Amino acid sequence: MHSGAPIRALVFDAYGTLFDVHSISIACEAMFPGRGADISRLWRTKQLEYTWLRSLMDRYADFETITRDALVYACGALGLELAQSNALGLIESYRQLSAFSEVKDALAAMHSRKRAILSNGSPAMLNTLVEHAGMSRLFDAIISVDELKMFKPHPSVYGLATRYLGVSASEIGFVSSNFWDVSGASSFGFRTFWINRNNSQPDELGFEPVAVVRRLDELLPYLN
Ligand code: 2OP
Repeated sequence: MHSGAPIRALVFDAYGTLFDVHSISIACEAMFPGRGADISRLWRTKQLEYTWLRSLMDRYADFETITRDALVYACGALGLELAQSNALGLIESYRQLSAFSEVKDALAAMHSRKRAILSNGSPAMLNTLVEHAGMSRLFDAIISVDELKMFKPHPSVYGLATRYLGVSASEIGFVSSNFWDVSGASSFGFRTFWINRNNSQPDELGFEPVAVVRRLDELLPYLN
């Protein structure tokens, strides 16, 4: 375990880390039998690409717009006709993604530190997601990139967490399942923890997390 200043705050990525983006595949499957998993996978891939492309182009659109655009792309690329009512229904379901099963108890067990979400999600999306999961009281702050009109992994976004929580970067433990996000947060100066739920390959971006775990509750021994 990394030595140095104690970790005074824990900051969590939302999508893919606390909330299972692929829980949407059930709603996709109900609309497009046999294609749910394909839609969900391509939808997520394009959603992330659009955040990076729009940041590079300096053409910010909020995460709900990007999520809708990525859904339209995914269905189009898979040759599926997406009716307006189906698009609205899937976007509504995206506001209610399931949390991973261990998340609520694990977050509760981390109560001795400040806890916050730092996410690309728009404020409305994040608040609905957290409320729907019954987790509102588990966070000191729910921080959206929206006020900066810039997505992760731009350094300014990670700076939001230090400002909201009043702690320095080296005192923040940042937790994400997205290795590109772990890299951005490490580059900014956070102490990072990678939740590698699916045995993924780490990116070759020159950064390593303090620890790699498979579930959020496996993080607890590293914090004590
Ligand atoms: C986030 O929640 C998109 O997973 C990313 O910021």
